[in-house]
Amino acid sequence: MLNYMFLRQDISKKELSKIYNEFKDKLSPLNLEKKFARQKYSYDDKTNPLWYTFKNNEADFIKKFIEKIGLSNFENKITLSLLPVGYSLPDHTDFGRRTVIIIPILGYDAPVIIENEEVFYKDSPLLMDASKIHSVPTHTQDRIGIQISFKQSFKKIIEKINA
Ligand SMILES: [Fe+2]
Repeated sequence: MLNYMFLRQDISKKELSKIYNEFKDKLSPLNLEKKFARQKYSYDDKTNPLWYTFKNNEADFIKKFIEKIGLSNFENKITLSLLPVGYSLPDHTDFGRRTVIIIPILGYDAPVIIENEEVFYKDSPLLMDASKIHSVPTHTQDRIGIQISFKQSFKKIIEKINA
């Protein structure tokens, strides 16, 4: 069963850095206590992820990308995320989203483990089934990227991309 797919869409590193530089000051700690209330999860201030959800009139470059891959009719949430050095996450499924596209900007050298498979990031965006059990090993550097969250199932998103 397919749990992830790399998207063959070129995405400008320069544009991604521009977005990061423009919005990095708006990053704030993600409330993980709420998100992981039903799962055992411990963290400290140093490893708590930082997050910024783009407003409707922001991140046009990412919106164009979503349009290009045919997903703009699906409601989505675009966030800039910074997962600090030392951050890790045990096995879990995501809360509030079933599918996610992760666009690495910096520091994605460690893999994500999806149903026991180590998946290493490439320069291309990673489409991932967030309803499958996955974990994140401890980072050796800050991991900065864009996350596009969808409520639709992975299967539905894949069908739409391939349509
Ligand atoms: Fe996750």
